[in-house]
Amino acid sequence: MIRPRRNRKSESIRSLVKETTVTVNDLVYPLFLVDGKDISEPIKSLPNQKRWSCDMLLHEIESCLKLGIHSFVLFPGLEDHLKDADASYSFNERNFYLKAIKQIKARFPETCLISDVAMDPYSSDGHDGLVSQGKILNDETLPILGKMALAQANAGIDVIGPSDMMDGRVGFIRKELDEHGFQEVSIMSYTAKYASAFYGPFRDALESAPKEGDKKSYQMDPANKIEALREAQLDMIEGADFLMVKPALCYLDIVHLLKKEVRLPIAAYNVSGEYAMLKAAAQNGWLDYELSMQEMLLSIKRAGADIILTYAAKEFAELTD
Ligand code: PBG
Repeated sequence: MIRPRRNRKSESIRSLVKETTVTVNDLVYPLFLVDGKDISEPIKSLPNQKRWSCDMLLHEIESCLKLGIHSFVLFPGLEDHLKDADASYSFNERNFYLKAIKQIKARFPETCLISDVAMDPYSSDGHDGLVSQGKILNDETLPILGKMALAQANAGIDVIGPSDMMDGRVGFIRKELDEHGFQEVSIMSYTAKYASAFYGPFRDALESAPKEGDKKSYQMDPANKIEALREAQLDMIEGADFLMVKPALCYLDIVHLLKKEVRLPIAAYNVSGEYAMLKAAAQNGWLDYELSMQEMLLSIKRAGADIILTYAAKEFAELTD
């Protein structure tokens, strides 16, 4: 009799036939940065994640490096008085986010730092693009994103991460970078970023929710798949080095599709709501956090992701250390 169970009969056989393995090398750890000193402030909706001031963040990065995590994506949290309609603080020389990039790279040159390019953390409207009469302007937003990317490149960022979903922004940013001598700075494009309800805890963490309306005129409709391919083709032509799918869990089919169709590394963003769901269930005693978290990361990798951005990165590294 043919018995598939023979290949599951012992731990050693199971490990021989294991098709997918997640390692710390696959993971990128998102970190929230605020201005000031001596701050490591818990985020209510994201248990075990914090808002860090740069001095404290350096310690956190050091402890992650010891665990084998070497890639980080950085998000700034601004006080309201620094926000305006043009997101001008994003390329202001005094910007604490840019200063932090410089300090992290000076202290830990071996890290891979990924930025966030979008107007929302800096915008008084809380949108990723310029707002005029309730509309999000596309082409008028591009020069702002370009300036933001250049300021980050100047500070020493390794990878620019445009998360804004404006049309043409990858090409625009690539050209700006190349023209200013930053040919070696990479772009990880948020290629298929869906208008998802799973970003809630992140918007809480940064107080970056839109003041009015939603993001459906630029982020993708969760119902659509062909559109993801179209975005992927454009980002490829425009010069992206990595493509990202976001969120990850409800979009594993999109991760799989892009991996199959595109010859570029595929990243998947295991977003705040996906992480918070497990944490909340675990706090209620309804799920085993460690097991469900590892299963979640494994399924994202199995679907085809080469890279996983996840708030669980450090917890995973601690478990497997
Ligand atoms: C905004 C941005 C968002 C996230 C990353 N960059 C939220 C949004 O689009 O409103 C979400 C990440 C997460 O939920 O973990 N440019």
